[in-house]
Amino acid sequence: MESVRVELDQRRGQAAAMPWAYLRLPPFPQVAIRVLQLAHDENVQLYHLCELIASDPAFASEVLTIANSVLYAPRYPATSILQAVTVLGANTLQGMCVTVGVRAYLGKAMSRPAMRTLWKHNLACAIVAQRLAQAGNIDKDTAFTAGVLHDVGRMGLALIQPAAYAALLEKHQGTAETMLDAERVLFGWDHCETGRQLVGEWKLPDELESVVAQHHEARRTGGAWDLAELIKVSCALASSIGFAAFPGCQAMPFGALLEELPAREHGLFHVDAETLKEEVVESILAIESM
Ligand SMILES: [Fe+2]
Ligand SMILES: [Fe+2]
Repeated sequence: MESVRVELDQRRGQAAAMPWAYLRLPPFPQVAIRVLQLAHDENVQLYHLCELIASDPAFASEVLTIANSVLYAPRYPATSILQAVTVLGANTLQGMCVTVGVRAYLGKAMSRPAMRTLWKHNLACAIVAQRLAQAGNIDKDTAFTAGVLHDVGRMGLALIQPAAYAALLEKHQGTAETMLDAERVLFGWDHCETGRQLVGEWKLPDELESVVAQHHEARRTGGAWDLAELIKVSCALASSIGFAAFPGCQAMPFGALLEELPAREHGLFHVDAETLKEEVVESILAIESM
């Protein structure tokens, strides 16, 4: 036990002293980063976005597979990115690019059961966020994108120490907050800080940085309902319907989370836990069967 603690302390010391930039993390797909950056540039031309995605044929092919899946069920299959963007819109395409990007980022790590659980948590959060956004005035595609990306810091940790983080995810029993403490012991920082560093390094929009950095902070009561607040609740709702980021997660009850919603969203988000779970399972199956 003592030797494990010493090893953890040493690793933490090394990690904390190690400048972030020197950690050898695999690169996040450039196409996905550029798409996220361009999405907030109102002057960007649609054809420029299409050209960018099509410049990476393997990436474009995966995006088209999602676009043609039962999730979006287009009347006629899209055979080019231009067709997909015309039918589904640039914002929807952005969510697909991020989905493909995050999956590629996880790469071989996805073969670990803990990473597959984590991947499903991110997808579930995105699907819940998309639905919850429709009960308010937040763009549903932006909500989906933020949901897919919200736990990217966990993926960063998984790529820094694959076996150790997978073991932590598999064994930890507790809340999302106690998991943050356990991450700090293992790495010297938690996945929210890791995500903030990654998103900053990739120069993604500030609102995405707030999402990844703040999604485990306490809800702002009485404050504005924005993307970061939406993802806080969506992450917790995903956990409460059986899609937690780790198996031993003690999730908040579904009903209690609904009570935390602002009046407008509370009034318009009409769904019970079982129905929402069925919707999430269906959507994940559509993405997973690509
Ligand atoms: Fe998280
Ligand atoms: Fe989460």
